[in-house]
Amino acid sequence: MKTVIINAGPRKNWNTDLMLREAQKGAESVGAETEYIDLYSLNFTGCRSCLACKLKGAQRNRCYWKDDLSPVIEKILSADCVIIGSPIYLGEPTAGFRALFERLCFCTLSYDGDPYFEDKVNVGLVFTMNAPRQYFETSLQNVLGGIENSFRRFLNGEVETVAACATMQVDDYSRYSMGRFDPEERRKSREEQFPKDLAAAFDLGAKLSKAE
Ligand SMILES: Cc1cc2nc3c(=O)[nH]c(=O)nc-3n(C[C@H](O)[C@H](O)[C@H](O)COP(=O)(O)O)c2cc1C
Repeated sequence: MKTVIINAGPRKNWNTDLMLREAQKGAESVGAETEYIDLYSLNFTGCRSCLACKLKGAQRNRCYWKDDLSPVIEKILSADCVIIGSPIYLGEPTAGFRALFERLCFCTLSYDGDPYFEDKVNVGLVFTMNAPRQYFETSLQNVLGGIENSFRRFLNGEVETVAACATMQVDDYSRYSMGRFDPEERRKSREEQFPKDLAAAFDLGAKLSKAE
């Protein structure tokens, strides 16, 4: 089993990265070989609509745009599982997540009929956000549920999401103009809830990376 872990957030050692490191440990706990990729260390854009992936005679399930993301897409499509993590920015996953999502799904999409991709890649999604869990479970479901459904449709595997809500965005709130947040509540969430979120990320990695 091969599991690719993608950090589609810009910060290392912060909430999303920590969640993904646990998911990676979970995957390794069931014997998967893992690779961790920091998307924001790479040079890439969203889909450029070159349509090379739709040319007659082209090898399918391949993104032909020459930048750092195409080899990542190749790795994902030849893996058994991918776990992608992103903070929520303005009610959606990051621009980097979106770029990967567009190019990964579009190169498996057929304008002739059923999607081209016939193998199966399980997809784990890890989201972190300032918002409370209730907001994640209600208002974000339109956007995130749509992403889950697309991954089900294009990559044919199991798709599951875990989230860390009410995260600590900064270490020391007293240094920032962030009056909307109660630093004590954030610290409590970090100490009491975040360890449970990390455990859920570990379980996600283990579950989706387990050989059938
Ligand atoms: C540009 C930007 C936009 C954000 N927008 C939202 C948002 O719409 N909803 C939310 O709950 N949190 C939002 N956040 C907060 C982050 O999602 C949250 O702090 C997250 O846990 C950060 O992940 P990280 O620690 O891995 O960087 C935003 C943060 C930034 C930098």
